[in-house]
This record gives sequence, structure tokens and C-alpha cells, in this order.
Amino acid sequence: MSIIETFADHKRKTIETAEFTEDGRYKRKVRSFVLRTGRLSNFQRDMMNAHWNFYGLEYQSQFFDFPTIYGNHNPVILEIGFGMGKSLVEMAEQNPDKNYLGIEVHTPGVGACIAYAVEKKVKNLRVICHDATEILRDCIETESLSGLQLFFPDPWHKAKHHKRRIVQLHFINTIMQKLKSQGFIHMATDWQNYAEHMLEILQCTIGLQNTSISNDYIPRPDFRPLTKFEQRGRNLGHGVWDLYFIKTS
Ligand SMILES: C[S@@+](CC[C@H](N)C(=O)[O-])C[C@H]1O[C@@H](n2cnc3c(N)ncnc32)[C@H](O)[C@@H]1O
Repeated sequence: MSIIETFADHKRKTIETAEFTEDGRYKRKVRSFVLRTGRLSNFQRDMMNAHWNFYGLEYQSQFFDFPTIYGNHNPVILEIGFGMGKSLVEMAEQNPDKNYLGIEVHTPGVGACIAYAVEKKVKNLRVICHDATEILRDCIETESLSGLQLFFPDPWHKAKHHKRRIVQLHFINTIMQKLKSQGFIHMATDWQNYAEHMLEILQCTIGLQNTSISNDYIPRPDFRPLTKFEQRGRNLGHGVWDLYFIKTS
């Protein structure tokens, strides 16, 4: 299948793998995202088509081989839901001794991220356009990640939608399996109710240690670049809550 003629449309259709019940009916999933039909600009499409072979990884039913993908044994940091990718590219640029893996379902965001990575000549970054929960389940080996970044995940404000929040006990249990010992979980949100939910789940997870001296949130760290959603929240007068935990076992 040629990348050039199919890439964006193909991506939109393959953002998750279909699952079926025992009697063959399509299984509806509770997803943490709604696929927006934001337009992929010609520039984003061209950059994606030209550079997908280097920057893009596809969903596969076996584990990624990180040393082969990155050409080194540096630690791998996973970021889920990087949006337009600007802060992710900046982090990769500032930390050439680390490898970054970004997952995002929003195709224009993936295009924008690749375009910015090309502009910054960043080589230690790969991106995936797929549902992160499936990538975690099927493509990421046990104890292979040195960190997880989750910055401003969709807050799903209404109580009836809280089940869609990506941070749930089972999600953190999966992350714990994939993290190496001493690996980190760094989350940030501008929605206090979601911050409290994150804190509650992280605090009750065995094998995680909070780096906050007050055992809740940390001050906004300088090493986390401002994200697009964070800027939007700031403009609306929102606060920001950062959580930073280390896997101790
Ligand atoms: C509120 S935005 C924040 C984007 C960015 N981190 C920022 O701060 O600007 C959340 C992003 O997570 C993505 N997302 C939500 N669930 C996801 C999933 N299961 N897999 C991959 N991306 C997901 C959405 O498409 C969206 O772009």
C-alpha cells in the first residue's frame, strides 16, 4: 500500500483494532478520545508522507524492539496524547541521551509533530498514530520503559463520562508492568477534579513513590515545556497540577 495515496485516510480507519464478541458482533469500547475530523493540512500531509519511514511506527501484534528502532540502548520515554507535539519535540531536542515515543490519535497532530521534528532535526523521537491502550497492551514489552508522560489528558468533565478518562486503575497497572524499576510517571492537568483522581490512583498503587514533599503535587517543573492545552488553560485562568511518581520495585 503506497504511503502517499493512502496515509491520512488509512490512519483514520486504523486508529484502533476492531474487536468482536464471541457471536461475531462488533464490541463497543469505552475510549478515552473522540476522533475529531480536523483537517490535515497539505504541509502536514507532505511532511508525514516524506518522513513517516523514519519517524512513524505502526501498530503491530508483537513487541517493538527499541534498540533496533532507535539504533541505541538509551532509555525510552513514552508520551501519550502529545497533541500537536511541540512540547514533545522540545523535550527530545533537550535530551538527546533519551529516546522518545509519542502516541496520538489525532492525525493532524501527528503531522504537525513530524514537521516540527524535521525542522528541529530531532532523531531520538518516533511517533505512533493509534489508540495508546492497544499499543501498550500489544507492542510494549514488560519493563522496557524508563518513563511515562501524560500531559493534559482529556478531562472528561461530566461525571457520567469519567469512565472515559485514560487514568484508571487498570491503565496504571499496565503502565507499572511496562516501566522499569526507577522509571517515572509524570502527569499534569489543569482540571483539579482530574488531578485529585490521578493522585488517588497513583497513591494507592503499590510500588510507586511520590516525589512530592507534601505527598501530593510538585511545583511545575522547568524541564516540562509549556504545552498547547496548558497555554489554553492559562488563558482561561486555570491552575496546573503536576504529579511525579517513581516506580520503586
Ligand atoms: C487535551 S489533549 C492534550 C494534548 C497535549 N498533551 C497538550 O497538552 O497540548 C489530549 C490528547 O490526547 C489524545 N488521546 C486521548 N486518548 C488517547 C489514546 N487512547 N491514545 C492516543 N492519544 C489519545 C487526544 O487525541 C488529544 O490530542
